[in-house]
Amino acid sequence: MDFKTQSIGAGGLCALASDALVVILVGTSVPESLETPLADVARDAVKHGDLALKAGQTLLAHRVAGVKARRLVFSVAADSSVKAVSRAAAAALGLLKSGGSVSATLALAGGEFTEAHAEALVLVAHEATYIYRHTKPSAPPAPKLAAVHLACDKAAGAALTRGLARGQAVAAGVGLAREMANRPGNHCTPTHLADEARRLARSHGMKVEVLERKDVEKLGMGAFIAVAQGSEQPLKFIVLRYQGAAKTAAPVVLVGKGITFDTGGVSLKPAAEMDEMKFDMGGAASVLGTMRAVAELAPKINVVGLIAACENMPDGRAVKPGDVVTSLSGQTIEILNTDAEGRLILCDALTYAERFKPAAVVDIATLTGACMIALGGHRSGLFSPDDALAAELLAAGEATGDLAWRMPVDEEYDEALKSNFADMANVGPRAGGAITAAMFLKRFAKAYPWAHLDIAGTAWKSGAAKGASGRPVALLTRFVLQRAG
Ligand code: BES
Ligand code: MN
Ligand code: ZN
Repeated sequence: MDFKTQSIGAGGLCALASDALVVILVGTSVPESLETPLADVARDAVKHGDLALKAGQTLLAHRVAGVKARRLVFSVAADSSVKAVSRAAAAALGLLKSGGSVSATLALAGGEFTEAHAEALVLVAHEATYIYRHTKPSAPPAPKLAAVHLACDKAAGAALTRGLARGQAVAAGVGLAREMANRPGNHCTPTHLADEARRLARSHGMKVEVLERKDVEKLGMGAFIAVAQGSEQPLKFIVLRYQGAAKTAAPVVLVGKGITFDTGGVSLKPAAEMDEMKFDMGGAASVLGTMRAVAELAPKINVVGLIAACENMPDGRAVKPGDVVTSLSGQTIEILNTDAEGRLILCDALTYAERFKPAAVVDIATLTGACMIALGGHRSGLFSPDDALAAELLAAGEATGDLAWRMPVDEEYDEALKSNFADMANVGPRAGGAITAAMFLKRFAKAYPWAHLDIAGTAWKSGAAKGASGRPVALLTRFVLQRAG
């Protein structure tokens, strides 16, 4: 999709050339500053009960006298915040996307678009028009809507153009994460993830290395191998590197959980909704998406993306409850529940990350059902012993609307992982399950500032709108950009 600014000339909004003019109305009355005939149409519609000035309300009119655009849409926003304006734009684009408009111009009545609006609106437009088709030949054709313009005064153009460019890069990253996560487990295998990483590296000037089973065996990634050993699909350990600063500059390392399907292993999951465990590589997908967005924006920083990818399957060779394995760190782990596999692949990736002498490491994982129970689907769980790093990530979430919420990592929670047969068990009791999972990872993340994002509730939606969200690519990209200064 194409995005650009459109300067409001002497003729006002009514004179703008576009297939559709979307006027976002802010507040509970039609703004005084809105030009005629737009204000008259809006007031008339309100008066006759066809438009309520309540957030979420829309009105589509055709061929309004005095308006150059064939379609005129009013969409009401609660206020001029990025969130409210995004919602109003989403509602309007939802109306238009199945229609005949090829272009749409968004205008903010009673306010001015900011750079932050511009960035968010690109994401909204992509979100509204994304269609999954990789395994669905009968999917509807792409919407005609191919261009979105932001109406603004000439003076605001440069800032909005910057916001649009950033939005385009983030949207491409979100789109990649979403697409990868939506692909079913028999298509999106560890090999498929590795191929995508190679393709991304080639198209975006990054370095990539893919470690195979023999390589990780030689390194001693006993925890990762234990998870992968029940599957016919070969494991992949992907190392993707973006270099935007001096070679010697300490990188940010992003670590993604890439379980391309989680059956639970021998500790088999119940059948209901098990299909959704194809999304268990959402963390890995967000690493790929963020690397893409970062590479397009070219900030002066080094970023390493690590993805541990495999399937978690029951099999004659699969790891069994009670088995003890030796992780790359040398610490031994009693695997009491083979369904707590994410932490097993991540712990070896966290140890591997040490070699980069990172400035910070953030792991991203659909790690626990307990996190979904705790926070639902709006905020990702953020766990970190480092207050400064936690604050950066929370702020990146607030700035992008890709929200997180900090959870505790007090040492008291660590006791839950005691084992009589190894340095630690891989699970504790049910209570506080998201926290004990984080405590487990914390034991492997002592060499650098570290944070963990549990995206079990936010990486995808269930039900009729089942599908990946592309989260938390927006949060992570903003975090990296903030770090680059
Ligand atoms: N991938 C799951 C977590 C998950 C489950 C995310 C449902 C979203 C929805 C993870 O590998 C898992 O199975 N975790 C277990 C841990 C338990 C065995 C301690 C869980 O959450 O039940
Ligand atoms: Mn599991
Ligand atoms: Zn899992």
